Amino acid sequence: MINIAIFASGTGSNFVNLVQNEELKNYCNIKLLVCDNPKAKVIESAKNLNIDTFVFNPKNFNSKIEYEDIILDKVKEMDYLVLAGYMRIISPHFLEKYTGKIINIHPSLLPLYKGINSIERAYNNRDDEIGVSIHYVNEKVDDGEIIVQDKFIVDYSENLNEITNRVHQLEHKLYPNTLINVFKEQK
Ligand code: GRF
Repeated sequence: MINIAIFASGTGSNFVNLVQNEELKNYCNIKLLVCDNPKAKVIESAKNLNIDTFVFNPKNFNSKIEYEDIILDKVKEMDYLVLAGYMRIISPHFLEKYTGKIINIHPSLLPLYKGINSIERAYNNRDDEIGVSIHYVNEKVDDGEIIVQDKFIVDYSENLNEITNRVHQLEHKLYPNTLINVFKEQK
């Protein structure tokens, strides 16, 4: 069975959705939540769902390497690392140990709208379509080989909040299904 850790920094709707997905349970064990924000809502969710957590505050470390080395130790039994709203850039030092094994979800049709506020920027640009990308992580932000994308046509009678909810619904469908497909190939 494939062991995975999920990395998240905030709300954790994707985290909860992945943990609760019954089919995904046939392909992987979600062993750990790694969270860089001690105030994040996702921590409470992990506790409720009986998932171990490693929570740290980057401010308490002198360098990224220092806290990343601790994370590397915590995840050493993991086959894949799944980022779901993790708001930190992973250093090359970390990445070289998990090449092709770190997956991220981003709420845009990459390469469009890398970085933050992607849905809002696409919406304000009045793009015809808004979507979601799932990709392997490399040393650049929201870059790396795209595994899958999905999208919908935007109805501008809906406000940004409504469109944001649609994006999240799409994420909640796409992320477990994509992970299942990736892990299936490992079996
Ligand atoms: C998602 O939109 C994800 O694509 C992005 O961060 C957001 C996290 O949302 N990387 P949540 O914490 O899973 O609710």
